Amino acid sequence: MQEKILVLDFGGQYNLLIARRIRQQHVYAEVKSYGSITAEQIQREGYRGIVFTGGPNSVYDPASPHFDPGILRLGIPILGICYGHQLLAWMAGGEIQAAGNASEYGRVTLRTAGGVLFDGVPSESVCWMSHTDFVKSVPDGFRITASTENCPCAAMADDERRLYGVQFHPEVTHTAFGSQILHNFLFKVCACRGDWTMEDFVSAAVERYRQELSGKRALCALSGGVDSAVAAVLLHRAIGDRLTCVFVDHGLLRKGEHEQVEQVFQHRFQMKLIVVNARERFLTRLKGVTEPERKRKIIGEEFIRVFEKEAKKLEKQDALVQGTIYPDVVESGAGSAAVIKSHHNVGGLPEKIGFERIVEPLRELFKDEVRAVGLELGIPEELVMRQPFPGPGLAIRVMGEITEEKLAVLREADAIFREEVMRAGLADAPSQYFAVLTDNRSVGVMGDARTYGWVIALRAVSTDDFMTADWSRLPYELLARASVRITNEVRSVSRVVYDITSKPPATVEWE
Ligand code: XMP
Repeated sequence: MQEKILVLDFGGQYNLLIARRIRQQHVYAEVKSYGSITAEQIQREGYRGIVFTGGPNSVYDPASPHFDPGILRLGIPILGICYGHQLLAWMAGGEIQAAGNASEYGRVTLRTAGGVLFDGVPSESVCWMSHTDFVKSVPDGFRITASTENCPCAAMADDERRLYGVQFHPEVTHTAFGSQILHNFLFKVCACRGDWTMEDFVSAAVERYRQELSGKRALCALSGGVDSAVAAVLLHRAIGDRLTCVFVDHGLLRKGEHEQVEQVFQHRFQMKLIVVNARERFLTRLKGVTEPERKRKIIGEEFIRVFEKEAKKLEKQDALVQGTIYPDVVESGAGSAAVIKSHHNVGGLPEKIGFERIVEPLRELFKDEVRAVGLELGIPEELVMRQPFPGPGLAIRVMGEITEEKLAVLREADAIFREEVMRAGLADAPSQYFAVLTDNRSVGVMGDARTYGWVIALRAVSTDDFMTADWSRLPYELLARASVRITNEVRSVSRVVYDITSKPPATVEWE
């Protein structure tokens, strides 16, 4: 039987990160909301261990998420993190108190006092704290195993019942020995084997959808991006020709993108693919539009219309496959974590088209995990490792009104820049890099003649999560090559500039 850990979600922002850190140690972890599973079901599922996640509440608030204390008697090891630590203490009979001025946030020195969780962890190390309550007195059977200056119980342990709690966040990289602590819980407390791989994820997902969608038809909108590609190939493996993919060319794609989608899905994987050429339709709707949010809205709406029209031409489709990944879920506030930013890719299509069900096979995965699944499925590396590309495409990289001419200029400049970055083979490659066509023209000189051409801006950023980003310090030689090539090869560009703004205050995209 595949060993697995249950991450019981109490609404913290890092809940899926915990699952990912566990999977990185080759133990399968799944996240379930505290309200969606009972102690009895937990026992039946045969989990090796349970992690209580953090959450924004206070345990003594009656409206805050709680759990059946019966869970403590199941004999399954538990690790409580942050709110989960307080909840564990509270459920077992300990006392929680508001920290007031002693609230901690950020990097703090952790002093450990032994215990299995801290095997291989120095007696002093850095941990990441974020809490306004603390455990004032531990329940019977527990002892305190770590503290910080302001938090007398930064960790507690009951080795006999295998119940553990930590006030800090071992899952974030700022906690220096976080992975060691999780490792100790998984392997020393829960006695996991650690033999789970991405291949297991793929075969389990294929098997699951083969059963769930037996005899059913599914539709998937391919965007040309990694996520929808991986979701589609995964579903194709499960249901074969009962999956139809639709790729809408809205005329705002990068150079070569349309061809690549056909090559990979139609020729390589022999999937049923409908390619819709809707370039004129989109450009007509976008004529005269200069406001970025308006552009996004038009493209989103138009996309749904085109997709709906295609879907209607087909025999009845039971399911809609979407490449939603975990960061999309967090950003749109669809999970239980606090809303960070509204996002456009999630939740738009379904209600409008009336499918029986939505299939989102990658919903729990992070980008790098999705890429690993893609490689496992045999999707070419150029597609799997490709940088993110926004749904509205080049529309938000052509400043101001979108015209065929501006799009053509940007496409060429962007292709050159991307080619040069790739050719440079940087060890520390930027997370996203592209060209922007500013709405400005500038004076130049070519031969003896004065020119008056477009200003192209180059943008490259490094980031882990795209919420914040630093501008990439690309080598001057690379920037020089890109600039010379763009001004030589792309007629009507007279100047190239490099964007040296981080996010915040700027965003990654210019619009
Ligand atoms: P910003 O510009 O918000 O970009 O700093 C962060 C990340 O999100 C992408 N992005 C979008 N993706 N539809 C998308 O699918 C959009 O409207 C959109 N706007 C920005 C951007 O490319 C970057 O990766």
